[in-house]
Amino acid sequence: MTVQYRPAESREEVLQSLEVTQQAFERTPGEYFRRRLDLDPTLEPGDTFLARLNNRIVGVVQRFPHQMYVRGKPIRLAGIGNVGTHPDFRGEGYASGLMRYVLQTSLQQGFELAMLFTRIAPFFAGLGFRPVDRNEFYIQPVDEAPRGDVSRFSIENDLADVMALYEIFSPPRTGAVQRDAAYWRGQVEFARDDPDFFQVLRRQGRLLAYIRGCRAGNALRLMEYAYSDSFADMLQLASRVAHELGFSRLRLPLTPEELFQAPNPVPIGDDEEDRIMLHVLNPEALTERFSLWDDDPDSILDHLFGPGEFTYWQTDFF
Ligand SMILES: CC(C)(COP(=O)(O)OP(=O)(O)OC[C@H]1O[C@@H](n2cnc3c(N)ncnc32)[C@H](O)[C@@H]1OP(=O)(O)O)[C@@H](O)C(=O)NCCC(=O)NCCS
Repeated sequence: MTVQYRPAESREEVLQSLEVTQQAFERTPGEYFRRRLDLDPTLEPGDTFLARLNNRIVGVVQRFPHQMYVRGKPIRLAGIGNVGTHPDFRGEGYASGLMRYVLQTSLQQGFELAMLFTRIAPFFAGLGFRPVDRNEFYIQPVDEAPRGDVSRFSIENDLADVMALYEIFSPPRTGAVQRDAAYWRGQVEFARDDPDFFQVLRRQGRLLAYIRGCRAGNALRLMEYAYSDSFADMLQLASRVAHELGFSRLRLPLTPEELFQAPNPVPIGDDEEDRIMLHVLNPEALTERFSLWDDDPDSILDHLFGPGEFTYWQTDFF
């Protein structure tokens, strides 16, 4: 029996592969995978990769194509997700083989960097991925009330302003991804933000800040935020939401400048959660683009994604 690795050739084949994905991730509701497929406009059939044994799909990997900002410049990112092998076919090297195929194909297709979230970092380290620091911290909510009107996000009233603010706020942050209007609409749908956790702050109608959060133990975890004038506006908004929902602390990614303005930040240890791992696919392209001296993949990661340099909005998860 020989195994074949290749991209899916049709939507039907992608739907077929979802059955394997669902069996591999038995604790994730199957509806989640289908919803993402239906609502994420960036996904083509060819972004689902299959390991096939005779006529049977035994392993699946999905690639989420993004342009990710690095020091203000977009680079082509292959987001790797839903790596799964059918339970009856594990330990035979199919996931490793398929991953190598996906990485090689992605390089040939012009992707420069691959990224994934995982709880089994050693497996992916063996495939050349390296963990990066998320730069997330716990901070105490502040007592000052937000100077403006706080309301729940609504697509009709807020999406256009939120998109416009994102366009200004996020590109300078290494790790944020480009979002067009179609992706935004799909993402707001597939992320299914709890309305209590997606709130906006306006003053005289002008959008000052927004936050998108979720529950993480006793913390309100900010998966994404932006502010137009000051970090304090965002912090007051987040603190108000935390007080209302009964959270005693905030958890959020911070740049070095923000860290300076945050009250009593406590770094979050790496072992508390999923790791983010990166894999340099095209060292030459990145070395040239960012005028680096050394095209060794580890040194590229150290230079571009070192501590304080990387904040990925969790809302763009895959
Ligand atoms: C992880 C998974 C894709 C591996 O598939 P596979 O085809 O068996 O992988 P391979 O045969 O290429 O490699 C097996 C290696 O996976 C690693 N591995 C698998 N599950 C693991 C786990 N829960 N913890 C740590 N390592 C694990 C082991 O290192 C194993 O190495 P070994 O053969 O030396 O013991 C498969 O176990 C699976 O579908 N798991 C459930 C879904 C999942 O957790 N996916 C990863 C999400 S990031």
